[in-house]
Amino acid sequence: MKIASARLLGTLLLTFASVSAHCAAPAAGPGVAPTSVPAAAEKAAAPKPPETKKPVAFQPPAADSIPDDDFGKMVRKGEQIFVNTRENAGRFVGNSLNCVNCHLDAGRKANASPLWGAYISYPAYRSKNEHVNTFAERLQGCFRFSMNGKAPPLGDPTLVALESYAYWMSTGAPVRGKVEGRGYPELAKPALAPDYARGQKVYAQSCALCHGADGQGQASGGKTVFPPLWGSQSFNWGAGMHDIKNAASFIKANMPLGLGGSLSDQDAWDVAAYMNSQDRPQDPRFKGNVQETRKKYHDSPTSMYGLKVNERVLGGK
Ligand code: HEC
Ligand code: HEC
Repeated sequence: MKIASARLLGTLLLTFASVSAHCAAPAAGPGVAPTSVPAAAEKAAAPKPPETKKPVAFQPPAADSIPDDDFGKMVRKGEQIFVNTRENAGRFVGNSLNCVNCHLDAGRKANASPLWGAYISYPAYRSKNEHVNTFAERLQGCFRFSMNGKAPPLGDPTLVALESYAYWMSTGAPVRGKVEGRGYPELAKPALAPDYARGQKVYAQSCALCHGADGQGQASGGKTVFPPLWGSQSFNWGAGMHDIKNAASFIKANMPLGLGGSLSDQDAWDVAAYMNSQDRPQDPRFKGNVQETRKKYHDSPTSMYGLKVNERVLGGK
């Protein structure tokens, strides 16, 4: 009884405080002593949202500190799906990539679109599909585009596991705040327009050793060792990585593997343009016609989809 009435009083005070904060002339609340109002109003004054705050440094918990309980089991399952996606979520995967191929170090690495930077940033509006996306919906998009597969239905254990893994990895991060290292560092516009021929040279010199001269990567015992950068086993035309700005930013920060930051900005743009001027699986939102699909989904100077390169229309097959 005591607790219930204290709670009721608290609710009244809060209601009253929020009303008075918005009205010039607050009406007296029923049963509340007027003298208690200013203090209550002060206490309940909403803090300023941290949106405009500077990004803070963040370290995810150590990989071996996943708790030994039922929640931890789900977190571990998410980690396994993230690292060996085909093996652990095969029915939703349509290529030979794993999430970790683009989100390095099991999704922990800053500036390689880490899961802890992502998790705290949703729900969020995305111009890609013109509505507010939950984190689970964001994950669905990765399966459909980056993995050229099928979106697991909402509530599917695959999504629950990935969400648990990302949630755990965000332990202590500011919800709706900003952390350093989300996504990729912004890459300045190149001095020269990105160029296929220059990119081809960069590719031969700095990438082909691992990803193959034909961009198909290398596998060993059915496992992807060096992931394919284009072709039927790579990401499709709807994936974020197909956009040369995203690709150049990722490449600049992370490739060649272990030597992130070593390419010039221009080289990163050129090699991204080369990589994203090759054939890859169709955009699953294809409208039956490349130009119409470009107009609807690729109306951007950094998408090569539908453009003609070396006499071939990209996305045309
Ligand atoms: C081919 C590379 C690639 C693969 C594979 C890939 N992603 Fe991504 N992912 C990206 C890129 C690029 C972005 C940023 C795209 C953008 O901004 O449109 C991204 C964004 C994300 C985000 C949102 C990041 C943020 O900060 O908002 C999440 C979460 C995510 N991916 C999870 C996954 C999961 C889970 C998988 C595996 C099922 C996966 N990704 C596979 C390239 C990839
Ligand atoms: C030393 C070997 C090595 C070199 C050299 C290298 N990469 Fe990679 N790259 C990798 C590995 C391994 C991964 C996957 C990382 C993981 O799973 O942890 C990767 C991932 C990628 C990805 C994301 C996955 C995909 O298939 O789309 C892209 C894009 C990429 N590399 C582009 C490049 C480019 C461009 C160059 C040259 C500038 C390059 N890489 C040089 C080893 C290399």
